[in-house]
Amino acid sequence: MSLVFDRHRRLRTSAAMRGLVRETTVTKNDLIMPVFVDATIDGVAPIPSMPGINRYGLDALPDEIRAIEDLGITSVIVFGIPDHKDDVGSDAWSDDGIVQCGIRVIKAVCPGLVVIADDCMCEYTSTGHCGIVRDGEVVNDESLEYIVRIAVSQAKAGADIIAPSNAMDGYVAAIRQGLDKAGYINVPIMSYSVKYASSFYGPFRDAADGAPQFGDRSGYQMDPANRLEAMREAASDEREGADFLMVKPAMAFLDIVRDIRNASNLPLVAYNVSGEYAMIKAAAANGWIDEARIVRETLTGIKRAGADLIITYFAKDVAARIDRDEW
Ligand code: PBG
Repeated sequence: MSLVFDRHRRLRTSAAMRGLVRETTVTKNDLIMPVFVDATIDGVAPIPSMPGINRYGLDALPDEIRAIEDLGITSVIVFGIPDHKDDVGSDAWSDDGIVQCGIRVIKAVCPGLVVIADDCMCEYTSTGHCGIVRDGEVVNDESLEYIVRIAVSQAKAGADIIAPSNAMDGYVAAIRQGLDKAGYINVPIMSYSVKYASSFYGPFRDAADGAPQFGDRSGYQMDPANRLEAMREAASDEREGADFLMVKPAMAFLDIVRDIRNASNLPLVAYNVSGEYAMIKAAAANGWIDEARIVRETLTGIKRAGADLIITYFAKDVAARIDRDEW
C-alpha cells in the first residue's frame, strides 16, 4: 500500500531553508517605544513592576531619547506624570504641561523621531478617570472638549501623531475638527479604537499613577468578552477620520487584531501592554522561560495576527538584539 501525504518537512531542513519560507519578520520599523516623562523627579526612577523601564525627569530625557534613536527605533509614544492633579486634568492640556515640555525636549534632541502623544486625562485628574466626572459619572461630551484641548496643545508642542486613549465616543471626530481648526491638518490621529477594560494595565497605572480613585473604567472601556463591538468601534473611528486604528491589549486579543486587519485598510497598531511585559519579565527572572525567544514569538505572533506596528516596552531590547544579530 502506498501512502499519500504531503512532505511539509522539506521546507524545514535547514536554517537557511526556513529563512526562505518565513512569512513574518519583526523589524525595527515595526516598533514604537513608550517613554514616561516625570515632572516630579530629576534623573531616572525605575518602575518596580516593569523591570528595565524607567520614568525620566526632563533633565534625563535627552540621553534616553538619543539611546532610543541610536538603536534605530523611529518612533516613541510619550506619557506624562504631572506634579499636580485636579478635576479637569489641567496639566494635560497646559502648554507647560509635562508632556508638552517632554515633546519639546525630544524634538530638540532628535527632530527626526516620530513622536506620538497619548491623549488621555487619567494621569492628570484627581479622580484618576479618563474624563470629567459629574455625579460619579464620566461625562462624554464635556470630556471631549478637554481631549481636543490636549490634542491641540500636544500638536503645538511638536507631536507628530495624536493617540487618543480615553475611550469617549466621538473623540476622533472632535480631535480632527480641533486640529484642523488650529491649523494642524497634517497631524494624524492614531486612535486606541479597541481598548478593553483590562487588568493587563496594572503595572502602567503604578508607573503613571493613573488608577481610578473610585469604580473602574468599564463604563467607557470595552468588555473583553466582545468582538462585534470591537468591529463597531473600529468602523466608527474610521468614519470619523482616524489615520491609524489600535487594539489594546495585544496578546489575549489577537483574534480582534486579525478581524480588524481583514475589515480595514488603515495601518493597524497593537499595544503589547504593561502587564504583558511584566509577566514575561517575571517568569524570565525566575528562570522559567527563555525571555529572548518568548519575546520574539510574542511580537511575531502579534504581527502575524495582522498588526503593522507594535507599541512595546521590549522595543529597545529587540532593536539591540537585531544589532547583535541575535534576533
Ligand atoms: C491612558 C492609558 C493607559 C494605558 C495607555 N494609555 C491606562 C489605562 O487605560 O488605564 C495602558 C498601557 C499599558 O498598560 O502599558 N488611559
